[in-house]
Amino acid sequence: MGRSFEKSFAWKERAKAALVGGGQPHKQSQPPDPVMVAGGKGAHFWDADGNDYIDYLMGYGPMILGHAYPTVIEAVSKALERGNVYNFGHTLEIELAEKLVEIIPSADRVAYFVGGSDATTGALKFARAYTEKEKVIRCGYHGWHDWCHNTRGHLTASAESTLSVGFNDLETLEELFKEHHGQIACLIMEPSGHSLPEEGYLENVKKLVNSHDALLIFDEVKTGFRYALGGAQEYFGITPDMSVFGKALANGFATAVVVGRDDIMDEVSNVWVAATFHGEVSLVAAAIATIAELEAKDGVDFMWKQGTKLLDGYREMTVRLGIDQANIGGIGPMPFFGLNSDNDEQSKFRQTFYEATLDGGLYLPPGHIWFMSISHTDEDIDKTLNVSEDALKLAKAKS
Ligand SMILES: Cc1ncc(COP(=O)(O)O)c(C=O)c1O
Repeated sequence: MGRSFEKSFAWKERAKAALVGGGQPHKQSQPPDPVMVAGGKGAHFWDADGNDYIDYLMGYGPMILGHAYPTVIEAVSKALERGNVYNFGHTLEIELAEKLVEIIPSADRVAYFVGGSDATTGALKFARAYTEKEKVIRCGYHGWHDWCHNTRGHLTASAESTLSVGFNDLETLEELFKEHHGQIACLIMEPSGHSLPEEGYLENVKKLVNSHDALLIFDEVKTGFRYALGGAQEYFGITPDMSVFGKALANGFATAVVVGRDDIMDEVSNVWVAATFHGEVSLVAAAIATIAELEAKDGVDFMWKQGTKLLDGYREMTVRLGIDQANIGGIGPMPFFGLNSDNDEQSKFRQTFYEATLDGGLYLPPGHIWFMSISHTDEDIDKTLNVSEDALKLAKAKS
């Protein structure tokens, strides 16, 4: 590799001594390595050694406008001059709620949370209270809390009441409802991702879930404000009973919300889901500024355009170069290009590709959907495709 990563390696050593596990699990195992971030601006970040990258992780989704985005920073600074946490209702949280009700199809009422895991857990609590049923079905990733996992350290009893179904698998969903007849409070699902919903799938899911007196919850923590301003539900034209939004809502500030239909949300309004930092001023101010900028800049259309250009470019290039192990998925605002590694030869090819793209100034998440922002310029997209093509050619030449 041409770049030096000396300082990143040194910081990694310090991380091992100071942080549990050297950092959170997904940060420990986030190849290509090594990257210790020192700062970011727009669609770029730079590491401890000063190497610049075009970023397609974008914080795993929050940075929809870009890193260190001026209008958001200004709005937060201005709001903070008048304090941050009161634990009274405040005017900004009502302003944001009104905006969300305007733009999100399933939103009549809004409840504030901090972070996606907090919000998905809150949505489940609402659903259990409303339906007076305990079990839930999940489809996708919904966070780290006990009900989401059945791994070391998690409360077995909580995880046991969570059933799981694959995306686009209507048959298994029907079986689960039969098998656990009358016990299921809700299906919480990511409405789209690496795979897109098959024709009629989301409509049929909604019919099926509601026919069992259960609630359909769309987890739009990733898709929200990207597929459309009102999320994947607006894009696909399917309105769930409740939805969860987080990540991109506040361009890097940790606010998240559960929104839902008025009859449901009014019925559960006394369910205890309160916390000190729910609706914190800085988070809410950031969200208002983020949505305003997305609207002012036609941000969603722009991300669709840039992401589609990337996907088209990768499709054309991999066909032309005959790259059989290419794995292309997602859609405009959340595209994905990766390489399968089913054998040693493919693994070597893959490693050469990621080393060369990192060296060429790209951060391409290898095993996770990518996130576009309104700061990914035409120049960024062209560079991404050019560096990727050179890296594929290099990997081919070496194999
Ligand atoms: C769809 C979805 N739901 C929930 C979460 C959990 O959000 P957080 O990591 O902010 O707790 C994530 C995080 O990646 C997610 O992608």
